[in-house]
Amino acid sequence: MARKIIIDTDPGQDDAVAILLALASPDLEVQGITCVAGNVPLPLTSKNARVVCELAGRTDVPVYAGCDRPLARDLVTAEYVHGKTGLDGIELPEPQMPLQDQHAVDFLIETLRAHPAGSVTLCPLGPLTNIATALQRAPDIAEKIAEIVLMGGAYFEVGNTTPAAEFNIHVDPQAAEIVFKSGVPLVVMPLDVTHKALTTRARVEAFRNLGTRVGHAVASWTDFFERFDMAKYGSEGAPLHDPCVIAYLLKPDLFMGRHINVEIETTSELTMGMTVADWWRVTDRAPNAMFMGDLDANGFYTLLTERIARL
Ligand code: BDR
Ligand code: CA
Repeated sequence: MARKIIIDTDPGQDDAVAILLALASPDLEVQGITCVAGNVPLPLTSKNARVVCELAGRTDVPVYAGCDRPLARDLVTAEYVHGKTGLDGIELPEPQMPLQDQHAVDFLIETLRAHPAGSVTLCPLGPLTNIATALQRAPDIAEKIAEIVLMGGAYFEVGNTTPAAEFNIHVDPQAAEIVFKSGVPLVVMPLDVTHKALTTRARVEAFRNLGTRVGHAVASWTDFFERFDMAKYGSEGAPLHDPCVIAYLLKPDLFMGRHINVEIETTSELTMGMTVADWWRVTDRAPNAMFMGDLDANGFYTLLTERIARL
């Protein structure tokens, strides 16, 4: 039976590739896509999610707009990485499919309440504002969630937005704290993993050589996205952060990690949004997350290319 998931996202080129990977996979049943402010403001993320659904020919997947700002802080966006639209790299048509009227948080609560305990997996790919708001407003939904598999945080790689914090957690640390303290089983894809999921020329060309519209779009997005990380880190390519979340659902053995305690810094401005991961188990704080540290990058790109080819 296909696994039911809800993707919570702020597209973003790497979010877009993650959504495509999910939509290409019959082993996953996407109940809906909930959008949040993050890489770009909410009107753009909720438009971009529909652009991606239309590119995949999946106008049947409902898209919802959620929170337009973090719980307690001003919104910080990342146009310097993703471009003005959030999906720079290729020009795609304006979406024709409508945005749902319902608020993303109401959709999350209603959908989870309508399901048996432990039956829906949440896949957050951006700041955790929608998920935290839903958990705060309706604590009863926690038991309905099978697990939350999210992209966010870092331990060995420390930060990409500040010296101490990764973007998704830094944008809304208060929301992250609620999620990390929720008691829901968590699987975390931090920068420690995603910085090993790097594109190379050959990997990008493999997308382009699929000879499909979707393959061409994925290659164009990664080409655009690459320039930032290559300049910053001197790496060969760019990390495809968010697809790691969906790849984990399809092939968990590609990832290695530890079940440990992870706390979120919400007090110090200097280290705001840091994921304090007890990787070496030096405290007796209870484990609350499967925190990944490594992946089989070749296996990841093989899976991604094979699935993208189906669209
Ligand atoms: C995360 O931040 C965003 O820029 C990406 O889409 C990813 O979710 C990486 O830090
Ligand atoms: Ca994202």
